[in-house]
Amino acid sequence: MVLNWKGAISKSFMEEFNIPTANYGEFTAETLDEGLAYIAKQTPPIVLKADGLAAGKGVLILDNILEAQEELKDMLGGKFGDASSTVVIEEFLDGIEFSVFAITDGNDYKILPVAKDYKRIGEGDQGLNTGGMGAISPLPFVDDELMRKVEERIIKPTIEGIANRELDYIGFVFFGLICVNGDPMVIEYNCRMGDPETEVVFPRIKSDLVELMQAAYKGKLNEVEIEIDERTAATVFLVSGGYPEAYEKGKIIYGLEQALGSLIFHAGTKSDQGDIITNGGRVIAITSYGADFKEALNKSYENAELIEFTKKNYRRDIGFDL
Ligand code: GLY
Repeated sequence: MVLNWKGAISKSFMEEFNIPTANYGEFTAETLDEGLAYIAKQTPPIVLKADGLAAGKGVLILDNILEAQEELKDMLGGKFGDASSTVVIEEFLDGIEFSVFAITDGNDYKILPVAKDYKRIGEGDQGLNTGGMGAISPLPFVDDELMRKVEERIIKPTIEGIANRELDYIGFVFFGLICVNGDPMVIEYNCRMGDPETEVVFPRIKSDLVELMQAAYKGKLNEVEIEIDERTAATVFLVSGGYPEAYEKGKIIYGLEQALGSLIFHAGTKSDQGDIITNGGRVIAITSYGADFKEALNKSYENAELIEFTKKNYRRDIGFDL
Protein backbone atom coordinates (compact mmCIF):
# COMPACT_ATOMS: atom_id res chain seq x y z
CA MET A 1 0.00 0.00 0.00
CA VAL A 2 1.44 3.40 -0.94
CA LEU A 3 1.53 5.69 2.06
CA ASN A 4 1.47 8.97 0.20
CA TRP A 5 -0.58 9.77 -2.84
CA LYS A 6 -0.04 13.16 -4.44
CA GLY A 7 1.19 12.58 -7.98
CA ALA A 8 -0.51 11.63 -11.21
CA ILE A 9 -2.22 8.58 -9.64
CA SER A 10 -4.08 10.65 -7.07
CA LYS A 11 -4.88 13.32 -9.66
CA SER A 12 -6.51 10.74 -11.94
CA PHE A 13 -8.47 9.35 -8.95
CA MET A 14 -9.71 12.84 -8.05
CA GLU A 15 -10.58 13.57 -11.66
CA GLU A 16 -12.54 10.32 -11.98
CA PHE A 17 -14.53 10.94 -8.81
CA ASN A 18 -14.88 14.70 -9.26
CA ILE A 19 -12.95 15.64 -6.12
CA PRO A 20 -11.70 19.26 -6.03
CA THR A 21 -7.95 19.67 -6.45
CA ALA A 22 -5.61 22.04 -8.27
CA ASN A 23 -5.89 21.82 -12.06
CA TYR A 24 -2.96 19.93 -13.37
CA GLY A 25 -1.28 18.85 -16.60
CA GLU A 26 1.86 16.86 -17.30
CA PHE A 27 4.00 17.64 -20.36
CA THR A 28 7.24 16.55 -22.07
CA ALA A 29 9.25 17.95 -25.03
CA GLU A 30 7.01 15.92 -27.33
CA THR A 31 3.91 17.64 -25.95
CA LEU A 32 5.40 21.16 -25.63
CA ASP A 33 2.75 22.74 -27.88
CA GLU A 34 -0.02 21.24 -25.76
CA GLY A 35 1.74 22.55 -22.66
CA LEU A 36 1.92 26.07 -24.09
CA ALA A 37 -1.76 25.93 -24.97
CA TYR A 38 -2.56 24.59 -21.47
CA ILE A 39 -0.74 27.55 -19.89
CA ALA A 40 -2.61 30.00 -22.14
CA LYS A 41 -5.89 28.81 -20.59
CA GLN A 42 -4.71 29.27 -16.97
CA THR A 43 -5.17 32.23 -14.66
CA PRO A 44 -1.79 33.33 -13.19
CA PRO A 45 0.07 32.71 -10.99
CA ILE A 46 1.07 29.47 -12.68
CA VAL A 47 3.09 26.77 -10.96
CA LEU A 48 5.65 24.81 -12.99
CA LYS A 49 7.19 21.78 -11.33
CA ALA A 50 10.08 19.73 -12.62
CA ASP A 51 8.80 16.17 -12.11
CA GLY A 52 12.24 14.90 -11.03
CA LEU A 53 14.54 15.98 -8.20
CA ALA A 54 16.11 19.39 -8.89
CA ALA A 55 17.85 20.18 -5.59
CA GLY A 56 14.81 22.07 -4.30
CA LYS A 57 14.89 24.51 -7.24
CA GLY A 58 12.44 22.78 -9.54
CA VAL A 59 9.26 24.65 -8.57
CA LEU A 60 8.65 28.01 -10.25
CA ILE A 61 5.70 30.32 -9.65
CA LEU A 62 5.13 32.68 -12.58
CA ASP A 63 2.95 35.77 -12.57
CA ASN A 64 2.15 35.93 -16.24
CA ILE A 65 1.36 33.57 -19.08
CA LEU A 66 4.17 34.56 -21.46
CA GLU A 67 6.80 34.18 -18.76
CA ALA A 68 5.35 30.77 -17.84
CA GLN A 69 5.44 29.67 -21.48
CA GLU A 70 9.11 30.74 -21.81
CA GLU A 71 9.97 28.85 -18.63
CA LEU A 72 8.18 25.74 -19.86
CA LYS A 73 10.29 25.82 -23.04
CA ASP A 74 13.48 26.25 -20.98
CA MET A 75 12.59 23.48 -18.56
CA LEU A 76 11.66 20.99 -21.24
CA GLY A 77 14.81 22.13 -23.10
CA GLY A 78 16.94 20.88 -20.20
CA LYS A 79 17.12 23.76 -17.70
CA PHE A 80 17.23 21.25 -14.83
CA GLY A 81 18.67 18.39 -16.88
CA ASP A 82 16.70 15.15 -16.72
CA ALA A 83 14.73 16.42 -13.72
CA SER A 84 12.68 18.68 -15.99
CA SER A 85 12.22 16.28 -18.88
CA THR A 86 8.63 16.10 -17.59
CA VAL A 87 7.04 19.27 -16.24
CA VAL A 88 3.85 19.42 -14.22
CA ILE A 89 1.78 22.57 -14.61
CA GLU A 90 -0.46 23.17 -11.64
CA GLU A 91 -2.93 25.84 -10.69
CA PHE A 92 -1.67 28.01 -7.79
CA LEU A 93 -3.83 27.59 -4.69
CA ASP A 94 -3.79 30.49 -2.27
CA GLY A 95 -5.32 29.58 1.06
CA ILE A 96 -4.81 28.02 4.47
CA GLU A 97 -3.93 24.36 4.84
CA PHE A 98 -5.57 21.93 7.25
CA SER A 99 -5.73 18.19 7.81
CA VAL A 100 -8.84 16.04 8.00
CA PHE A 101 -8.80 12.40 9.04
CA ALA A 102 -11.28 9.61 8.57
CA ILE A 103 -11.30 5.94 9.44
CA THR A 104 -12.97 3.66 6.91
CA ASP A 105 -13.97 0.01 6.73
CA GLY A 106 -14.06 0.31 2.94
CA ASN A 107 -17.72 1.32 2.78
CA ASP A 108 -18.53 3.48 5.79
CA TYR A 109 -16.37 6.04 7.50
CA LYS A 110 -16.11 8.13 10.66
CA ILE A 111 -14.62 11.60 10.59
CA LEU A 112 -12.00 12.32 13.25
CA PRO A 113 -11.19 15.76 14.69
CA VAL A 114 -9.77 18.30 12.25
CA ALA A 115 -6.26 19.70 12.85
CA LYS A 116 -3.57 21.94 11.46
CA ASP A 117 0.15 21.33 11.69
CA TYR A 118 3.11 23.73 11.52
CA LYS A 119 5.87 22.24 9.39
CA ARG A 120 8.55 24.94 9.13
CA ILE A 121 11.34 25.25 11.68
CA GLY A 122 11.11 29.03 11.94
CA GLU A 123 8.49 31.34 13.36
CA GLY A 124 6.12 32.86 10.82
CA ASP A 125 6.43 29.61 8.82
CA GLN A 126 9.97 30.44 7.70
CA GLY A 127 12.93 28.17 7.07
CA LEU A 128 13.26 24.48 6.37
CA ASN A 129 10.51 21.90 6.57
CA THR A 130 10.52 19.62 9.60
CA GLY A 131 8.54 16.59 10.69
CA GLY A 132 6.24 19.09 12.42
CA MET A 133 6.74 21.72 15.13
CA GLY A 134 3.23 21.86 16.54
CA ALA A 135 -0.45 21.31 15.85
CA ILE A 136 -3.89 22.48 16.95
CA SER A 137 -7.33 20.85 16.93
CA PRO A 138 -10.00 22.08 16.23
CA LEU A 139 -9.52 25.23 14.15
CA PRO A 140 -11.51 28.46 14.40
CA PHE A 141 -11.79 28.79 10.59
CA VAL A 142 -13.10 25.25 10.07
CA ASP A 143 -16.79 25.74 10.81
CA ASP A 144 -19.72 23.38 10.23
CA GLU A 145 -20.26 24.75 6.74
CA LEU A 146 -16.65 24.09 5.69
CA MET A 147 -16.78 20.58 7.19
CA ARG A 148 -20.05 19.93 5.36
CA LYS A 149 -18.28 20.80 2.09
CA VAL A 150 -15.29 18.64 3.06
CA GLU A 151 -17.57 15.68 3.71
CA GLU A 152 -19.80 16.09 0.64
CA ARG A 153 -17.14 17.06 -1.87
CA ILE A 154 -14.10 15.16 -0.62
CA ILE A 155 -14.64 12.46 2.01
CA LYS A 156 -17.75 10.79 0.56
CA PRO A 157 -16.51 10.66 -3.04
CA THR A 158 -13.09 9.45 -1.87
CA ILE A 159 -14.54 6.56 0.14
CA GLU A 160 -16.93 5.77 -2.73
CA GLY A 161 -13.97 5.90 -5.12
CA ILE A 162 -12.01 3.48 -2.94
CA ALA A 163 -14.96 1.04 -3.04
CA ASN A 164 -15.60 1.66 -6.73
CA ARG A 165 -12.00 0.89 -7.65
CA GLU A 166 -12.06 -2.16 -5.34
CA LEU A 167 -8.95 -0.92 -3.55
CA ASP A 168 -9.91 -3.00 -0.51
CA TYR A 169 -8.62 -0.40 1.92
CA ILE A 170 -9.41 -0.43 5.64
CA GLY A 171 -7.81 2.16 7.88
CA PHE A 172 -7.12 5.85 8.29
CA VAL A 173 -7.31 8.30 5.42
CA PHE A 174 -5.42 11.56 5.80
CA PHE A 175 -6.79 14.34 3.62
CA GLY A 176 -4.22 17.14 3.22
CA LEU A 177 -6.50 20.06 2.32
CA ILE A 178 -6.36 23.75 1.55
CA CYS A 179 -9.23 26.17 2.06
CA VAL A 180 -9.42 28.55 -0.89
CA ASN A 181 -12.04 31.29 -0.53
CA GLY A 182 -14.15 29.08 1.71
CA ASP A 183 -13.87 25.98 -0.50
CA PRO A 184 -11.80 22.92 0.42
CA MET A 185 -9.44 21.33 -2.13
CA VAL A 186 -7.18 18.29 -1.85
CA ILE A 187 -3.40 18.70 -1.86
CA GLU A 188 -2.58 15.10 -1.01
CA TYR A 189 -3.81 11.85 0.47
CA ASN A 190 -1.99 9.66 2.96
CA CYS A 191 -2.92 6.15 4.09
CA ARG A 192 -2.06 6.86 7.74
CA MET A 193 -2.58 9.40 10.51
CA GLY A 194 -0.38 12.52 10.56
CA ASP A 195 2.35 13.69 12.88
CA PRO A 196 2.10 15.96 14.90
CA GLU A 197 -1.64 16.07 14.17
CA THR A 198 -2.16 12.73 15.92
CA GLU A 199 -0.89 14.26 19.17
CA VAL A 200 -3.92 16.59 19.13
CA VAL A 201 -6.46 14.44 17.26
CA PHE A 202 -6.29 11.28 19.40
CA PRO A 203 -6.45 13.14 22.73
CA ARG A 204 -9.79 14.58 21.56
CA ILE A 205 -11.33 11.18 20.79
CA LYS A 206 -13.19 10.12 23.92
CA SER A 207 -14.42 6.82 22.48
CA ASP A 208 -12.28 3.71 22.68
CA LEU A 209 -9.86 3.85 19.73
CA VAL A 210 -9.28 0.11 19.74
CA GLU A 211 -13.02 -0.53 19.46
CA LEU A 212 -13.14 1.93 16.58
CA MET A 213 -10.32 0.13 14.77
CA GLN A 214 -11.88 -3.27 15.45
CA ALA A 215 -15.19 -2.03 14.04
CA ALA A 216 -13.38 -0.84 10.91
CA TYR A 217 -11.63 -4.18 10.57
CA LYS A 218 -14.93 -6.08 10.91
CA GLY A 219 -16.76 -3.81 8.43
CA LYS A 220 -19.03 -2.55 11.19
CA LEU A 221 -18.20 1.14 11.42
CA ASN A 222 -21.88 1.97 10.89
CA GLU A 223 -22.57 0.36 14.29
CA VAL A 224 -20.28 2.62 16.36
CA GLU A 225 -20.49 6.22 17.46
CA ILE A 226 -17.50 8.42 17.95
CA GLU A 227 -17.45 10.83 20.87
CA ILE A 228 -15.27 13.92 20.60
CA ASP A 229 -13.91 16.12 23.41
CA GLU A 230 -15.14 19.68 22.83
CA ARG A 231 -11.97 21.21 24.24
CA THR A 232 -9.12 22.42 22.05
CA ALA A 233 -5.87 20.47 22.09
CA ALA A 234 -2.58 22.08 21.12
CA THR A 235 0.84 20.50 20.89
CA VAL A 236 4.30 22.08 20.85
CA PHE A 237 7.37 20.12 19.80
CA LEU A 238 10.67 20.56 21.64
CA VAL A 239 13.46 19.90 19.15
CA SER A 240 17.23 19.62 19.30
CA GLY A 241 19.16 22.79 18.41
CA GLY A 242 20.22 22.63 14.76
CA TYR A 243 17.35 20.36 13.67
CA PRO A 244 16.28 19.80 10.88
CA GLU A 245 19.94 20.08 9.89
CA ALA A 246 22.78 18.60 11.97
CA TYR A 247 22.08 18.32 15.71
CA GLU A 248 23.56 16.62 18.74
CA LYS A 249 22.01 13.78 20.73
CA GLY A 250 22.57 12.56 24.25
CA LYS A 251 21.59 15.70 26.19
CA ILE A 252 20.04 15.01 29.60
CA ILE A 253 16.40 16.10 29.79
CA TYR A 254 15.51 17.81 33.08
CA GLY A 255 12.18 18.88 34.54
CA LEU A 256 9.90 16.21 33.12
CA GLU A 257 8.44 15.55 36.58
CA GLN A 258 7.50 19.26 36.92
CA ALA A 259 5.64 19.40 33.62
CA LEU A 260 2.16 18.67 34.97
CA GLY A 261 -1.23 19.05 33.32
CA SER A 262 -0.06 18.17 29.80
CA LEU A 263 0.39 14.96 27.85
CA ILE A 264 4.09 14.42 27.20
CA PHE A 265 4.86 12.39 24.08
CA HIS A 266 8.40 11.05 23.85
CA ALA A 267 9.59 11.02 20.23
CA GLY A 268 13.39 11.36 20.20
CA THR A 269 14.32 10.28 23.73
CA LYS A 270 15.80 7.24 25.43
CA SER A 271 16.68 6.23 28.96
CA ASP A 272 20.34 6.14 29.88
CA GLN A 273 21.57 5.04 33.31
CA GLY A 274 18.59 6.55 35.10
CA ASP A 275 18.38 9.68 32.96
CA ILE A 276 16.15 10.44 30.03
CA ILE A 277 18.31 11.83 27.22
CA THR A 278 17.68 13.27 23.78
CA ASN A 279 17.95 10.79 20.96
CA GLY A 280 16.59 12.55 17.88
CA GLY A 281 15.71 15.85 16.26
CA ARG A 282 12.12 16.02 17.41
CA VAL A 283 12.43 15.20 21.08
CA ILE A 284 9.14 15.72 22.96
CA ALA A 285 5.63 16.87 22.03
CA ILE A 286 3.71 18.66 24.79
CA THR A 287 -0.06 18.49 24.31
CA SER A 288 -2.48 20.47 26.45
CA TYR A 289 -6.21 21.10 26.51
CA GLY A 290 -7.90 24.48 26.76
CA ALA A 291 -11.18 26.26 26.19
CA ASP A 292 -9.58 27.69 23.03
CA PHE A 293 -6.28 27.27 21.23
CA LYS A 294 -4.62 30.13 23.07
CA GLU A 295 -5.40 28.63 26.47
CA ALA A 296 -4.23 25.19 25.33
CA LEU A 297 -1.02 26.64 23.90
CA ASN A 298 -0.30 28.67 27.04
CA LYS A 299 -0.30 25.48 29.08
CA SER A 300 2.00 23.73 26.62
CA TYR A 301 4.36 26.71 26.58
CA GLU A 302 4.43 26.77 30.40
CA ASN A 303 5.62 23.19 30.38
CA ALA A 304 7.95 23.83 27.44
CA GLU A 305 9.80 26.23 29.76
CA LEU A 306 10.00 23.68 32.57
CA ILE A 307 11.47 20.88 30.47
CA GLU A 308 15.13 21.62 29.85
CA PHE A 309 17.92 20.21 27.74
CA THR A 310 20.97 21.84 26.17
CA LYS A 311 20.14 23.62 22.91
CA LYS A 312 16.39 23.03 23.27
CA ASN A 313 14.45 24.81 20.55
CA TYR A 314 10.73 25.26 19.87
CA ARG A 315 8.42 27.56 17.98
CA ARG A 316 6.71 30.13 20.15
CA ASP A 317 4.16 31.12 17.51
CA ILE A 318 2.11 27.98 16.89
CA GLY A 319 -1.34 29.17 15.77
CA PHE A 320 -0.02 32.57 14.65
CA ASP A 321 -2.13 32.47 11.48
CA LEU A 322 -5.44 31.52 13.08
N1 GLY B 1 1.90 16.45 9.35
C1 GLY B 1 1.89 16.03 8.01
C2 GLY B 1 2.05 14.60 7.82
O1 GLY B 1 2.00 13.81 8.76
O2 GLY B 1 2.24 14.21 6.68
